[in-house]
This record gives sequence, C-alpha cells and structure tokens, in this order.
Amino acid sequence: MTKNDLKLLGPITQLLTLDHLPLKGALNDEQLEIIEQAGILIEGEKVLKIGLWTDLKTEFPEAELIEMAGDFVAIPGMVDCHTHICFGGSRAKDFALRNAGKTYLEIAQAGGGIWDTVTQTRALSLDDLTASTIKNANRHLSEGVTTIEVKSGYGLSLAEELKMLRAIQKAGASTSADLVSTCLAAHMKPRDFEGSNPEYLELISSQLFPVLIEEKLTKRIDAFVEKSAFSPEEITPYFKVAQELGFDITVHADQFTTGGSETAVKLGAKSADHLEASGEKEIGLLAKSDTIAVALPGASLGLGCAFTPARKILDQGGALAIASDWNPGSAPMGDLIAQASILATFEKLSTTEVFAGITFRAAAALGLDDRGKITAGMLADFVLFPSKDYREILYHQGKMKPTQVWKRGKLSDV
Ligand code: NIG
Ligand code: FE
Repeated sequence: MTKNDLKLLGPITQLLTLDHLPLKGALNDEQLEIIEQAGILIEGEKVLKIGLWTDLKTEFPEAELIEMAGDFVAIPGMVDCHTHICFGGSRAKDFALRNAGKTYLEIAQAGGGIWDTVTQTRALSLDDLTASTIKNANRHLSEGVTTIEVKSGYGLSLAEELKMLRAIQKAGASTSADLVSTCLAAHMKPRDFEGSNPEYLELISSQLFPVLIEEKLTKRIDAFVEKSAFSPEEITPYFKVAQELGFDITVHADQFTTGGSETAVKLGAKSADHLEASGEKEIGLLAKSDTIAVALPGASLGLGCAFTPARKILDQGGALAIASDWNPGSAPMGDLIAQASILATFEKLSTTEVFAGITFRAAAALGLDDRGKITAGMLADFVLFPSKDYREILYHQGKMKPTQVWKRGKLSDV
C-alpha cells in the first residue's frame, strides 16, 4: 500500500461514533460512544479504522497525516431524509399571510400553497432548476449534511415531474453531497388536470413510473395523504403498483389529519413523515412497525403548529428520524441542526436521540446502511465542529457551524 492510499486525521477531542446503538427506541447519553483524542483512518471513500490518534499513528506510519490544531468534535455526516430543495421562486407571501391569521389550507384553496410553487417551478428551465438545486444542496453540505433526499412534486405533469427528477439527477452529479431522489408526483392533483384523483394517479403510475425506471431517475415514490390531497383509499392502489415495480414507498402522513401513517405501516413504507396529528393509535402502530417515523420540526416552525410526538414515539419503541422538510412553503429555513435542537427542547429528546435521528436512523429511512456512523467500513462522511464538548453543538441551536465537512473521504470545499 502506498502512502497516498491512507489518510489519518486527528487528533479529534471527541469522536462520536454513533455505533452500537439500536435502530429503534429511546436512547440516553450514557449509551453514546465517545472516543477522546481520536483518529480516523480513511482509505478511499471509507473509514478503515478509528481509535486513539497516538495508537493509529504508530500502527499506520505510512498514512498521510492530517493533523488538526485545536479542539474538535466529530459526528457522522448528517442525513436529511426529507427535503423539497428542488423548486422555483418564493412563498414569502404565504408566510406573511399565515402569520396574519390565514391557515395553510385556506391559502392553498385561494391559489397559494403548493400550486403557487408548481407555477414558479414550471417557469424555470431544466438548467436553472438544476442550478438552484445545487445551490441549496451545497448550502446544506456546508452545514454538515452529506446525504440529502430531494423530492419532486412541484411539476405535477408528466413532463414537469420528469424535468424535476432530471434536475435532481444532474444536480447530484455536480455536488459532493449524495442526493437521493423521490418522486412526489402525488403531492396534489394538479389544478390543470381535468379528471378525478384516481385518474390522475393512474396516469402517473402508468405513464411516469416506467420512465423513472428506464432513466434510473428514482427508486422511491412518495404521496401526500391528506384531506386536501389523496385519501388512503385512493393512494393504496397507486402505492401497490409502485411496490410491484420495485419502488420503495414513503408517505407524507398525518400532517393535519390521520390516515397516512396507518397506510404507511400497512404497506411497509420505508418511512412515514410529518405525524404532527398522530394520536395514540398511530403512535402505537408506528412503534411496532419497521417504518421509520420522521419528525419535521421545520414544518411545525413554518406553520406554527404542533411538533411530531417524538418523545412518545421513542418511548413506545419506535424508530425516530428528524429531517428538515426544507421547502419554499411550510419549511423555508432548512437548518437541520437548528430544527433538531428546537425539537429536542420541546419534546425532551436526549442528545443521543437527536444525533441518531439525523444520522443512522435517517439513513435507514432512505434504506441506506453504509452511512450515519463513524466506524470501520462506513463511508468516510463526517463533520468537525469547533468544540471540546459534543453538547455544545445542539446548545447553540444551529449557530455553531462545522469547521470541516468530509464526504466520501474528501474534505469538502463548499
Ligand atoms: O412536506 N405537506 C406537503 N408538502 C410539503 C409542503 C409543500 C409546500 O407547502 O410547498 C411539506 O410540508
Ligand atoms: Fe415534505
């Protein structure tokens, strides 16, 4: 092995491996594995070994040393398992209207809401939409988010959904963050579609799904199950067709009314996201299932409504991930650490539960088991914060920014 094959980074004051933690259930900070004065040995895109900096230096004298000066806490590269960062325009008007007393649904019914963003997104060329997706992805990457799920759903016609998914694919080739795309053509029935909800869903599943497979545009199908969008009865056959074709499914569930999470669990969805309206029954079903419950505190902050019952989900044994839902309407902030930290304050989550929710539990929501922990064999995706105490990261509620972000074994330059 030549010197250039191995990189040894350290010393790191506290390395949080997030290893040896279960996928489901409550976690306390005693369970957090912390290696002090640690080193990370990187080979190519992956972590070869972690351990004490002094031990690794002796064991691997051939490694290129990347010596850190100062105190740093390392956590795994964050995984944001639910975003809508591919969009055109702004919905600042909706935000102001909501704060002046109008509800999300009232604004949507009056022509604002998702449809407004559809109009603004359709107006962009493929290249402009790609450029704006890259910009958002790189902002996220600079804040330590190394894997980003990105949904379509602001195209809502065959051509425009394809434009969005192609933009996400092109953006993925131009950012060092990994982008995981999801087709959300079932965000709502488009206003310019003359037909029923089932007719729209039938068009998408019969005409769009085959192209998604052919062009390898996505492996995931999402839908908004809600009174204002699609009912459980309407969406179930759509999801079944998707699953028969080999897609994973994920659901916008229980945001305002229930029904979505039960559908998600019944169909074995990878995740059920939102859950602000989930009650005891839904929490119990989710906790017993393999479906990851995804809290989206950014949407609660954007809309001024309840937080996902994260504490109850964890206490009943569920798997809880936390994602930003970054979108121009309900969650314009897009700061994952800030939002996760605020959720922790309101829902009383341990630091370990929060870190698990934005790393390996979020990776599981995307069906990924090669990231979200810093340990041998995992992708070398990690973030260094300028601190000697891991608790400072959430304490600063998003204002502590990473000093370095490493993605697939490379120091990111955004
Ligand atoms: O996850 N709930 C539906 N979809 C998005 C909001 C999209 C929008 O308002 O533009 C969400 O919050
Ligand atoms: Fe969403």
